Amino acid sequence: MRKKIVAGNWKMNLTLDEAILLATSVSGKLKGNQEEVQVVLIPSFPFITEIKKKLDPTSHLYIGAQNCHANNKGAFTGEVSASMLSSIGCEYVLVGHSERRLYFNETNDELVKKIKEALTHKLKVIFCVGETLEERKTNTHFATIKNQLQDVLSHVNEQEFKNIIIAYEPVWAIGTGETATTEQAQEMHGFIRKIVSEIYNIEISEQTSLLYGGSCNAQNAQSLFACKDVDGGLIGGAALKADDFCTIVKSFS
Ligand code: PGA
Repeated sequence: MRKKIVAGNWKMNLTLDEAILLATSVSGKLKGNQEEVQVVLIPSFPFITEIKKKLDPTSHLYIGAQNCHANNKGAFTGEVSASMLSSIGCEYVLVGHSERRLYFNETNDELVKKIKEALTHKLKVIFCVGETLEERKTNTHFATIKNQLQDVLSHVNEQEFKNIIIAYEPVWAIGTGETATTEQAQEMHGFIRKIVSEIYNIEISEQTSLLYGGSCNAQNAQSLFACKDVDGGLIGGAALKADDFCTIVKSFS
């Protein structure tokens, strides 16, 4: 059985008080969560430690970071390493989010290094891929996703891959209110699973959790999560509202 996962990417939002309020209300609402769905909160770096302290242990929430550096330590002013994240109890990290690729020029080579660093420090990686609107319009979206997967995963061995979750996030759907249709989501998730089976093997691809991200909300999560190859979601905007986020967590049929 593949793990079902819902992760909330809070991006660069909230103050400490607001972040704690959001985390504790999600934690309260998911009290007694039987872990059928693994729920991950991904706040900004400065809030991670405080939030971890405030969570109800029976809510079984995991904490992730939005990024990590490709190096272990050194003269990289302003950066945060995977070992630092691990040392404060962080369990997951996002790698390759389209906003990092776009605004911080992160290349596939750099993503490989980040993934290796994260895995060395026992973080689980949510590796993001996604095509732009232009790529979808010109019908090159499958080639784009294939390249993003192959360029990075060809450097990741089977053992390492066990701790990787893939998030498909069409760039045109992120923060736009325009969601991929269930047909588009299933088609791409099926394609991603096929590529993973080619890089590794069928057993591994069947065990890999594939998350959908891009304007996934309390209204559309149920139909997206009902798709055969969609194992959960990476949620942005809707993760900033406790009620909506918890509705999404409960959207598996
Ligand atoms: P969104 O963001 O849900 O606000 O579209 C998703 C993401 O960027 O992870």
